[in-house]
Amino acid sequence: MLILGIESSCDETAAAVVECAGNRRILSSLVASQDEVHARYGGVVPELASRRHLETIVPLVRGAITEAGVSMGDIEGIAVTYAPGLLGSLLVGIQVAKGLCISTGKPMIGVNHLEGHLNAVLLEHPQVPYPHVGLVVSGGHTSLYLVKEFGNYKLLGSTRDDAAGEAFDKVAKLLNLGYPGGPVIDRLSKKGDPRAFKFSTPHFGYWTKKNDTVLDFSFSGIKTAVLLRHRQALSDGSVNDQFITNMIASFQDTVVRFLCDRVLSAAEQTKARAVVLSGGVAANSHLRETLKERCLQEKIGCFIPSINLCTDNAAMIASVGGEYLKRGARSDMSLNAVANQEIGL
Ligand code: KG4
Ligand code: ZN
Repeated sequence: MLILGIESSCDETAAAVVECAGNRRILSSLVASQDEVHARYGGVVPELASRRHLETIVPLVRGAITEAGVSMGDIEGIAVTYAPGLLGSLLVGIQVAKGLCISTGKPMIGVNHLEGHLNAVLLEHPQVPYPHVGLVVSGGHTSLYLVKEFGNYKLLGSTRDDAAGEAFDKVAKLLNLGYPGGPVIDRLSKKGDPRAFKFSTPHFGYWTKKNDTVLDFSFSGIKTAVLLRHRQALSDGSVNDQFITNMIASFQDTVVRFLCDRVLSAAEQTKARAVVLSGGVAANSHLRETLKERCLQEKIGCFIPSINLCTDNAAMIASVGGEYLKRGARSDMSLNAVANQEIGL
């Protein structure tokens, strides 16, 4: 069962062909990044994102089909991200999917982007045990789920302010390190001392000690602490390259420890059999290593997809869409874009 996946929810245009019968297999997965469009603004500009999707999406879909070595006639279904994301960006992908469905008569299925991230792991580890705890940590979301089985999710906690990736991007912006901030901070932190500065993490929930059920996140306080420390150093003249590298290494380490604490606390509370990481921030090398180590200590399985399956891609959308199509689900021509849509509520 060959599924064409289309993803355009934010600033990456992506198309993929995935074999969804039996063991899932990626035949092609193309991603066109828009980083150079948004870099000078230090963040995604929605209208520019939609316009770039319009230019890129048709050649990309053609490219994904060619690279897979198939023809449109071989495709059995079209999966497209319809939520959550930037409305103008989502509409481009949805319209292309509808056009293809009308012209070929193939079925279409709308896929939630978060559900795509949460299940990206199945493309490499189809045997990941249930129930497991899944953390989606990206530029737009930081949400923790109990995944009871495919399609059955319970939201355990989410961010009360910035997403983790947003905090990486904002810290990089305030220190003039470039965009997107996550990869830059990841790279530069390797030369810094993560213990040089102490940034505290939010404490909500901890007063209940043993009965701690609050698994929410918050990153704006850590970001503000970096801002204030940087301002202070500017005024007393102590800013130099090593100061900046130490500060971002300490910032990154604080975020990583906070994320890992929450994930392991969730796994303990829910008696999960494994933990799964996904989303753009899951590409962070310090987070990947730390979570693996902590899971080894706690004797719990840890599954982290390859980096190109953690960041936005269309293979994860095709894979989830294929599963729903197999189960008989279909979207009709009224499929619309939805900006905010959590799963597992
Ligand atoms: O999942 P994604 O590609 O798009 C969204 O759905 O948001 O995530 C993008 C986010 C950005 O905030 C980017 O800075 C962050 O993921 N990111 C990273 C790394 N690579 C990407 N954050 C930390 N370390 C990285 N290596
Ligand atoms: Zn994403």
